[in-house]
Amino acid sequence: MKIAILPGDGIGPEIVDQAVKVLKALGEPFEMEFAPVGGAGYEAAGHPLPESTLKLAKEADAVLFGAVGDWKYDTLDRPLRPEQAILGLRKNLNLFANLRPAILYPELAGASTLKPEVVSGLDILIIRELTGDIYFGQPRGVRECPDGPFKGQREGFDTMRYAEGEIRRIAHVAFQAARKRNKRLTSVDKANVLETFQFWKDIMIDVHKEYPDVALDHMYVDNAAMQLVRAPKKFDVMVTGNMFGDILSDAAAMLTGSIGMLPSASLDANNKGLYEPSHGSAPDIAGKGIANPLATILSAAMMLRYSLGKAEQADRIEAAVKKVLTQGLRTADIFEDGCSKVGTSEMGDAVVNALG
Ligand code: NAI
Ligand code: MG
Repeated sequence: MKIAILPGDGIGPEIVDQAVKVLKALGEPFEMEFAPVGGAGYEAAGHPLPESTLKLAKEADAVLFGAVGDWKYDTLDRPLRPEQAILGLRKNLNLFANLRPAILYPELAGASTLKPEVVSGLDILIIRELTGDIYFGQPRGVRECPDGPFKGQREGFDTMRYAEGEIRRIAHVAFQAARKRNKRLTSVDKANVLETFQFWKDIMIDVHKEYPDVALDHMYVDNAAMQLVRAPKKFDVMVTGNMFGDILSDAAAMLTGSIGMLPSASLDANNKGLYEPSHGSAPDIAGKGIANPLATILSAAMMLRYSLGKAEQADRIEAAVKKVLTQGLRTADIFEDGCSKVGTSEMGDAVVNALG
């Protein structure tokens, strides 16, 4: 199995090094090949997504991505900016499903702005569709308003669209993910008001017939937002469209209060995927050896589970992360009195040791 390793810039290389250490320690015959991306791609080849990097990402079974976007590239023209690499990879690899777990280990319950009893032990997965919805629907623009009380004024407009196949493929990803967890799926829609999301709901119900072992329920997005802050542990896997998913996944991430802990995956139709921490390149702490590598290490665990068919190795990594937290080891971003403060590399070593 071939893994493309794209560390990127900023803290990317430091945190990816730790995940690579952990992957190597599993003793599996992975072939890992490195390539520059983002600012590192610009330095090496004058482009944030060099041809050779894209080629490697395409031929690999999975991509482990660090982070991109160091401030020193802020003055470049938009097509040369590091962030273009992520967009280019998503597009070229046909990644349409974004998986964002929000996990709050009981040891870190104090990091959340919500009461510990509401969020301690939280472990939910939000699946966001990435290619459709009001973000890309045509027509869109600014025009002269054709009717109603504002007729004749300028109006902005966008079009919400979802094709049947687009809904079916994200539904399959969601049901399969639910199957790998606790067999519960909540589809979030706005079927009471929007035709697009009544259609979404109908397709979800139809695809559900292929997954009778998974319990499906439906929730309106406004209620889902309310429940996420009221009783988030009621959820297990949630699936929703591009816009609702954008908003709900950020809200869910913040329930945990610690961006340095949150992994993510973006998948294509064949479970090939790109795995990366939810955070960015953290230029403010890059090169200091203090970044939290756990989001990246947990992203590697997701890669094993979703793309490489190595669920038991994913479990091992996740158990090792829990163990180092129980041991009281903390990087600066999650540090609390009474714990032992460690750097990036020490945290990586601790996870390797905890693998057993
Ligand atoms: P950021 O996530 O890089 O940083 C936000 C804050 O969280 C900073 O104070 C940072 O030090 C801290 N932080 C982030 N990751 C951490 C970690 N692993 N350990 C400890 N502390 C951590 O977001 P920001 O500052 O908005 O963006 C910085 C750059 O990253 C921008 O250029 C942005 O475009 C880019 N970015 C890249 C992403 C990616 O590579 N997928 C995603 C989000 C932002
Ligand atoms: Mg967002």
